[in-house]
Amino acid sequence: MKKVTLLFLCTAMLTACNQRSESEQPSDNDLLFTELIQTAEQQIGYQVKLIEESGKIMNPRTIENGYVHYIPKDDWTSGFFPGTMFYMYDLTKEKKWMDAGIKYTEDLDTIKHLKWHHDVGFMINSSFGNAFRVTNNETYKEVIVEAARSLATRFRPAAGVIQSWDEDRGWQGRRGWMCPVIIDNMMNLELLFKATRLSGDSTFHKMAVSHATRTMENHYRNDGSCYHVVDYDKETGGVRSKQNAQGYAQESAWARGQAWGLYGFTVAYRYTHDERYLTMAEKIYHFIFTHPNLPEDLVPYWDFNAPNIPNEPRDASAAAVTASALYELAGFGMDGYQEKADQIMATLAGDAYRAIVGTNGNFLLMHSVGSIPHGNEIDVPLNYADYYLLEALTRKIAAEDK
Ligand code: GLY
Repeated sequence: MKKVTLLFLCTAMLTACNQRSESEQPSDNDLLFTELIQTAEQQIGYQVKLIEESGKIMNPRTIENGYVHYIPKDDWTSGFFPGTMFYMYDLTKEKKWMDAGIKYTEDLDTIKHLKWHHDVGFMINSSFGNAFRVTNNETYKEVIVEAARSLATRFRPAAGVIQSWDEDRGWQGRRGWMCPVIIDNMMNLELLFKATRLSGDSTFHKMAVSHATRTMENHYRNDGSCYHVVDYDKETGGVRSKQNAQGYAQESAWARGQAWGLYGFTVAYRYTHDERYLTMAEKIYHFIFTHPNLPEDLVPYWDFNAPNIPNEPRDASAAAVTASALYELAGFGMDGYQEKADQIMATLAGDAYRAIVGTNGNFLLMHSVGSIPHGNEIDVPLNYADYYLLEALTRKIAAEDK
């Protein structure tokens, strides 16, 4: 898709290709990605239409028992649907998507005060982070900084980490943990880094650096794979245990966790230029792409060590997060990463993963997994799979247009 502008892609490729000479013909993949954008316009457009017709503001996450499951504002995935609108705006330049993004984002304003779990980073960065990027509205900047203040209340100085879950509440509240930190938390650091850039208060940046460094030291095995949960002692800062919650077994490699880590260290490198984070990302890349259980189409099983491979569900969300991270890493000069990302994207844009218009609860991607150990969301669409897919596509096109 070299030197092809996005607008051209969206509006002219399919009709124009008949008139062009052999050498100018778009490749099969170009056509696939054009179809992906068209599918996204229809699926997400219909999703928005249905919500608008209800007269309420609703936030779709997945399908449950055949119906779209809408979530409350404090659900960790609530920022992704609004954020998806901003990527649709990037991809089409149609104002209706920006307007919808603003509407659904502004509905989440009160989340900036959320202090009872770490996911405020995911939630605010995907919604208000994109809203600020696209509109430059100063009000959104204040929301980002306020949300970072909320996240910072979870920083535990002795351990040097942001505590992910409260030790005594929620679905993991009875595990005897003192200060559980999950690999997913690497994704919340972007909010902290951004808040320092926007406010000039270096406290957030320092917390993010401390968290990333402790995670690098304690979450990772020698082979470049990671545990899901590391429990710290809040008083001494020592590690109490290393475990898995959403993966198959204590010593297994939960697929989305590997993707969160890859993406998280990429962001940490973006904001710090600390080579250790880039080396960490490289190690994770090596683990994922040399693993014998990674299928040829590059969409991982839900856990690299799941017991019944090849008869295990795939996780398209992990593949989408990975692809998006790889495009950024390719921009940092990592050789071969863009090609891997392109391969993942070609798979996800193809028939095996891209939903037929009018199906799949109007989500874009099929075949993701929430949490198999908890019996949740197995082989379903997920709003964050769609979000990272469209982010990856935006990054791919931006890189090729340079
Ligand atoms: N952050 C929760 C998950 O990845 O399922």
